Amino acid sequence: EAELIHKFKGISFTTRSSPELLNSLDAFDAREDDVLLVSYPKSGTHWLAGVITKLYNTPVTLTTPIELGDMSKLEELNQLSSKRIIPTHLDYNMLPQHFKNKKCKMIYISRNPKDTAVSMYHYYRENPNLPTVDTWTAFLDLFLEGDVVCGSWFDHFLSWEEHKNDKNILFLFYEDMKKNLPKIVKEISIFLGISISDEDIQDICKKSSFSEMKKDTEKENSDPSHTVCALTSNRKLIFRKGTVGDWKNHFTPKQNLQFDEVFSEKMKLSKMAKHLTYEF
Ligand code: A3P
Repeated sequence: EAELIHKFKGISFTTRSSPELLNSLDAFDAREDDVLLVSYPKSGTHWLAGVITKLYNTPVTLTTPIELGDMSKLEELNQLSSKRIIPTHLDYNMLPQHFKNKKCKMIYISRNPKDTAVSMYHYYRENPNLPTVDTWTAFLDLFLEGDVVCGSWFDHFLSWEEHKNDKNILFLFYEDMKKNLPKIVKEISIFLGISISDEDIQDICKKSSFSEMKKDTEKENSDPSHTVCALTSNRKLIFRKGTVGDWKNHFTPKQNLQFDEVFSEKMKLSKMAKHLTYEF
């Protein structure tokens, strides 16, 4: 089990992210028209990637995550001739410097951390690249301590929230996408400077529904190794349930209190905390 995970700057990564690559992040060359798709794992990254790639009417390449792979990654991304949509789970501080200097557009998606924790728990159980967890209770403790891949959800969110007023960063919430996807698609298109008809928006939303995306993945001709998550090479593990509030089926009242305590302490300075926990 020990060899599935290694720590870099105090944050756990799977061995699919080589230490050499993590050490060389600042050597990444950004292009002004790169778009970064940023998330903590299990926040709706694949959903958002599905929407964004359908928005463009010019060729774009959805790459694998920046932090996935070994040193050959730098060259691989350099060689792409088309516009790049680049996913990453890195926190703001670890993000390659060039993307910040060039003010590349970045979209950060987040989700109620209770649902994120539940989604991640199931992912740990199904995903051979992640350590074994015995029970939900044991996993929740690890999650609250930040002792999971990609580190603490709280630290990740806060590192990005600090930049919420940067004009090149758009913040999105999974729950808002569930509530009114066309509205969010419109917002994304405006942010990216793509003009698109309402009819096209409807079409994109239809094609990006949970059932459609899950079905696409099950087709024989889809490439299961094409994922935007640095933690898996199996796309089929991504489409589990796709709902808001599944945490209620997992948390005991006591665990809920325990979570709320940590949440209010860690998020006391956050201006977005409310948005992450409102009830539907
Ligand atoms: P659940 O495990 O709660 O079902 P990520 O892509 O960041 O790994 O996030 C995965 C989560 O997003 C999973 O949550 C998955 O089911 C959900 N998801 C993926 N595609 C979706 C879609 N089209 N609509 C709603 N949820 C989706």
